Amino acid sequence: MTWQSPKGTRDFFPADLAAIQHVESAWRNASINAGFDEIEGPMFEHLDLYTVKSGEGIVSELFSFRRAGGDTDYALRPEFTPTLARMAAAKGRSLSVPTKWFGIPSHFRAERPQRGRLREFKQWNVDMLGIDSPSADAEVIATAIRALADLGLTSDDIVVRISHRDVVAKMLLDGGLKEEQLQVALGLLDKREKMPAEIFVEKAEEAGIDPSVFTPFDNETEASHEDLATLQHELKQWDIAEWCKFDFSIVRGLAYYTGIVFEIHEANGNERAIAGGGRYDGLVEMFGGPSIPAVGFGMGDVVLSLVLRDKGLLGDGNDLLPTPDVFVVSAGEEGDAAIAETVSLLRNANLHARRSYKTTKNVGKLLTEAAKTKATFAVILGEEFTRGEYVVKNLSTKDQVTLQRADLIEHLKS
Ligand code: HAM
Repeated sequence: MTWQSPKGTRDFFPADLAAIQHVESAWRNASINAGFDEIEGPMFEHLDLYTVKSGEGIVSELFSFRRAGGDTDYALRPEFTPTLARMAAAKGRSLSVPTKWFGIPSHFRAERPQRGRLREFKQWNVDMLGIDSPSADAEVIATAIRALADLGLTSDDIVVRISHRDVVAKMLLDGGLKEEQLQVALGLLDKREKMPAEIFVEKAEEAGIDPSVFTPFDNETEASHEDLATLQHELKQWDIAEWCKFDFSIVRGLAYYTGIVFEIHEANGNERAIAGGGRYDGLVEMFGGPSIPAVGFGMGDVVLSLVLRDKGLLGDGNDLLPTPDVFVVSAGEEGDAAIAETVSLLRNANLHARRSYKTTKNVGKLLTEAAKTKATFAVILGEEFTRGEYVVKNLSTKDQVTLQRADLIEHLKS
């Protein structure tokens, strides 16, 4: 029997959680700032939701299960898009246009844990439904960039690599690929960067594909599609053109994408993708809803945290932990009897108040404890408290005043 956490999961101690919450609050602020409303769905879904349209890659990584004695197959959610499309479909014709939703769900994928890949992770999802034009694609990309910029990243650190499924397919077919090989070729292209060149050539030949059909993808960056021309114009409007480039080696592994697709990467190609997304115009209809265009992305916390730490933009979280407004200590029997009541008074006044649980009359020791918490003030229930007086010490300036109960809150809040 071992009592370790399962492989690929994380325990979040307070500082770890503070670091993740710092990232999440940049995500949430950027979403709200851009007019997206927050949603959440179930952590598990019917297995079929993923097998219909997510594609082989993700299906092979599902944690699936049945309840004891049951015969329905479920899966822990590996991504949010099918849930979101299902929720949109359930609203049917009452869905407003546009619908702008975001969420920060946890996801589960039975992948081999490695740098940037875990079995449980958080993913920020930003999705816009009902707008056919690439202006929506630009708006979701701009929202992603707003969050990254808030976290301290610049266009020198990050690149949004933008592509289009139709352009990629046309390039492959023009290069001599047979129509029936298209899905296999797209799958290969998606994984190309993750394997050595000779293995890639081997895999292409195994699939009966001439590896030379992939050569144009190394240097083709021209916008050769109406959607991309519109998108380029829109990206300029949002003033984010310098963060973005066209790169037709991006195809995305998920099967539901229909048009523009993109990935956000560290600019030097370090690490896996920070985010991935694109258009999935057919998915809501597939789940029984109206035919409605959609575009969005998912950004995971794991790779992003690695990139932020590497650039010195995210610490271990210790400096992000909340510090108390006031720390209460008692150095006498009257104080001991009144400490809980004092803390309660302060908390009721909306002050972040902590207390010492030590039983010592050594005020020096107690103040050392107070200073360790980085509290702004210490309230000392000492000698003076026998006369009903509170000693309040400002722990950074070391200024000290003796106050009556009636003046305590006002002084601490000033
Ligand atoms: P995805 O490319 O599968 O897309 O995932 C998006 C991001 O989630 C990745 O770029 C990565 O940062 C993070 N991620 C994925 N798997 C893992 C893992 N095992 N460990 C850590 N991080 C991971 C989707 O999931 C789409 N549903 C995104 C989307 C939303 N498309 C439209 N709307």
